[in-house]
Amino acid sequence: MCGIVGYIGHKEAYPILVGGLRRLEYRGYDSAGVSVLHNGNIQTFKCKGKVSGLEALVSGAGVPEGTVGIGHTRWATHGPPNDVNAHPHTSGDGQLVMIHNGIIENYGTLREELTARGHQFNSDTDTEVLIHLIEDIRRNADVSIFEAVRIALNEVVGAYAIVVMDRNTPNQLIAAKKGSPLVVGIGREGDYYIASDATPIVEYTKNVVYLEEEEIAIVDVEEGFKLMDIKNRERTPYVQELELKLEALEKGGFEHFMLKEIYEQPRSVLDSMRGRLRPDVGRVELGGIRDYIKRFVHAKRIIILGCGTSWHAGLVGEYLFEDLARIPVEVEYASEFRYRNPVITEEDVVIAISQSGETADTLAAIELAKSKGATIIGICNVIGSSIPRATHAGSYTHAGPEIGVASTKAFTAQVTVLTLMALHVAREKGSITESRFHRLLIDLDAIPDKVERVLEKNEQIKFIADYYKNVSNALYLGRGYNFPVALEGALKLKEISYIHAEGYPAAEMKHGPIALIDEEMPVFFIAPRGGAYEKIVSNIQEVKARKGKIIAIVTEGEKQVKSMADHTIEIPDTDECLMPLLTVIPLQLLSYHVAVMRGCNVDQPRNLAKSVTVE
Ligand code: F6R
Repeated sequence: MCGIVGYIGHKEAYPILVGGLRRLEYRGYDSAGVSVLHNGNIQTFKCKGKVSGLEALVSGAGVPEGTVGIGHTRWATHGPPNDVNAHPHTSGDGQLVMIHNGIIENYGTLREELTARGHQFNSDTDTEVLIHLIEDIRRNADVSIFEAVRIALNEVVGAYAIVVMDRNTPNQLIAAKKGSPLVVGIGREGDYYIASDATPIVEYTKNVVYLEEEEIAIVDVEEGFKLMDIKNRERTPYVQELELKLEALEKGGFEHFMLKEIYEQPRSVLDSMRGRLRPDVGRVELGGIRDYIKRFVHAKRIIILGCGTSWHAGLVGEYLFEDLARIPVEVEYASEFRYRNPVITEEDVVIAISQSGETADTLAAIELAKSKGATIIGICNVIGSSIPRATHAGSYTHAGPEIGVASTKAFTAQVTVLTLMALHVAREKGSITESRFHRLLIDLDAIPDKVERVLEKNEQIKFIADYYKNVSNALYLGRGYNFPVALEGALKLKEISYIHAEGYPAAEMKHGPIALIDEEMPVFFIAPRGGAYEKIVSNIQEVKARKGKIIAIVTEGEKQVKSMADHTIEIPDTDECLMPLLTVIPLQLLSYHVAVMRGCNVDQPRNLAKSVTVE
């Protein structure tokens, strides 16, 4: 949430800042702003709306000169999106500007105290309160900007990633982090790039330092990079090399990132399995959890934590671990789990799933489970992000950057890693027969090609999308392994096309949702061959009898459902437990096309942001 970018060096700052904001816009896009410092003057431009609006504003006024600056793209927390609440925020004396991601929880009290001391505020934001606090400390204690920031951060409660620029210290930017990510890129020419993730940095340098909790970076074009913490202790920066490739951040000829990412899935699923799945020698090996495999084998219970799409992947994980490894599983919304005083023991293994690795609720739930002695395993996509650093061990999904706000390839990558994990544990535990194990390895190995075959149905899916693009509601029904896919299909549709959609286990329909069915209601059935097939056929008949429109995802060659459904999408056959990797693909494509046909901004749906770093 909220994109942060800062630059200090010898190049013109504005193009770097605005280019960085474009890359970061997926994190939040309700307002944008930049400040550039030149010859003792700070020029700030900010406005409600997208980065393109900011660019128009700046080009009308004249591009600011200067080799130091900060920029921000916002996802509103305190105060509505408008020009005044947009970042950067300025101190009362106009000497300091700041950008911020996170929430200062005690901002109300601080604001009252500062108001009593004569400070006046223009915006509704917690950020403006913090920059006034820094100003207040600097004025009264007569300290350096670093020291003022440090003292202020000791007074705030909450989460922050900030960058502060000071008119009187033009050779420095101060950056600090707690709870929200921040990374400093060390340029080749004595210049520095600061950002909330590495996407704006990768085109300039591969050498980065991810700030740890409560660290403060002082980046100085004359004196270099110094890392401190809020207790004023010097820290040793750990410089790492980025693996991220620039091409991964481009649309690569696709109209939207979401479509590109849907089409990347044959490759991303393969990347999730690479070096881990060995059907030739009959082995699954997840190096990241090797030392913890015995904990899984002896676990009394597995708790899976996640939010949104990652939670849906976790539900597939529940079916997998119970079916293959015979371990009881609970799947929890991280946001509920963390506040519920849950019973957690040292014999529990917790699997935390997150694409971004930064989701605030998932992080907090991990800390809670860790404090009770559970073993925490991460399944994350973004390398070096906070969740992998907070867990005992884990496996990256290696799906590559996901920029589209609606998660697609991350889901299939998470399910792939969960499948590998469940197989690995099942084998160690002896809960799976040799023949099933080997068959599943072969079937899993074939999944990327089968995903490719599902993608070939795109034109047919587009046709179906056109047919249903104007509906107001939709139901998604599935059973067993495909119940989580029903939830995921409904989430994809609602989040990018704003059509109200619900996912249910198909048999639950009779307990309420069936009342919604009439000739206007499209019902998406995920009905491939498998254990629950006959049952779901009965559910389809029930909808048909009530004149609902039936769109069914079926196995190639299927006839019975085809004879009842208004539309069917055929997918290749595979083992039931691998089906979610195929059945979700048509639903992703369908949501994409519906959203495009309705004129929605697919990559930046309203009110949403990638990476939910506030609770
Ligand atoms: C939906 C979506 C969200 C995320 C959720 C968790 O398309 O993207 O529901 O899945 O915010 O995010 P991560 O996986 O980054 O923890």
